[in-house]
Amino acid sequence: MPERSPLVVVGSINVDYVVRVERRPQPGETVSDGVLELHPGGKGANQAVAAARCGAAVELVGCVGSDAAGRDRLEVLVAEGVGTSHVRRVEGARTGAAFVSLTPDGENSITTAPGANTELGVDDVDAAAPVIAAASVLVAQLEVPLVSVLRAAELAGEESLFVLNAAPYCAVPTALLDMVDVLVVNESEAARLARRSFSGVQGAREVAAELLSFGPRAVVVTLGRDGAVVVAPGLDRHLPAPVVRVVDTTGAGDAFVGALAACLDDGWALEDAVAYGVAMGSATTERHGALPVVPNSGRCRWADDPRCVR
Ligand code: RIB
Repeated sequence: MPERSPLVVVGSINVDYVVRVERRPQPGETVSDGVLELHPGGKGANQAVAAARCGAAVELVGCVGSDAAGRDRLEVLVAEGVGTSHVRRVEGARTGAAFVSLTPDGENSITTAPGANTELGVDDVDAAAPVIAAASVLVAQLEVPLVSVLRAAELAGEESLFVLNAAPYCAVPTALLDMVDVLVVNESEAARLARRSFSGVQGAREVAAELLSFGPRAVVVTLGRDGAVVVAPGLDRHLPAPVVRVVDTTGAGDAFVGALAACLDDGWALEDAVAYGVAMGSATTERHGALPVVPNSGRCRWADDPRCVR
């Protein structure tokens, strides 16, 4: 049997320091009732785990520090079945950290200290060139240097699909957008890229159509409780989200992207892959932590699940 092409994720690896608080402090104020939890995080690692739990063969390209956190993160990734041959331990660097403040409504605010993630260079990407060139799907986000994302996109083969999650927001160069097959953004990223505000599902559809003219072949705007819209030539759909009891929205977007990528890797139509991603992202908000709520037991086959609303 020929070996299956990997799904390659180029991205960040963090430890999430989550403080659950009743409310966030005002400037100069101290709030003393926080409860601290540590969770695996980083958009790249979260998306890699989500795709692996959906049954994809995943390789992660990234960096961790030479600290204990870096060793722990590698162990968790390996246990999740994510290939780590192209994750470099950077001597003397700290593993990326995210400081998440989480309120009872499930909303978060995040400050990252990227640490070793900033060390992911073009050389690291070039060292992974054979695996990137053979990738069925290449996934990237913007928590690692833009030059490295650009290089990975250049190395991806003609046959591979490039999914860019343009998060967190930065001014994405046209040279990169031109190589994107599926651009995934949330509402605020979409508004900043389009340089205008919008509201509602119809507004998201219109902004997605505008972003399509920036270069990508398809645009997905995720809308939290309202699901997502997907716009591409000949396609304009709203995929609603199931009603869930939200406790933590951290990583919901990553579960969406990882599941979407795994479904595309599995040959699903884009619209169906978005519907599945919405179900997966929604389910993830029902639990604490950024890792996706995906059964890590098999293939990406939730099409009949009532949560996967089409
Ligand atoms: O998207 C959520 C992730 O963003 C968190 O896990 C945190 O590490 C930040 O990178």
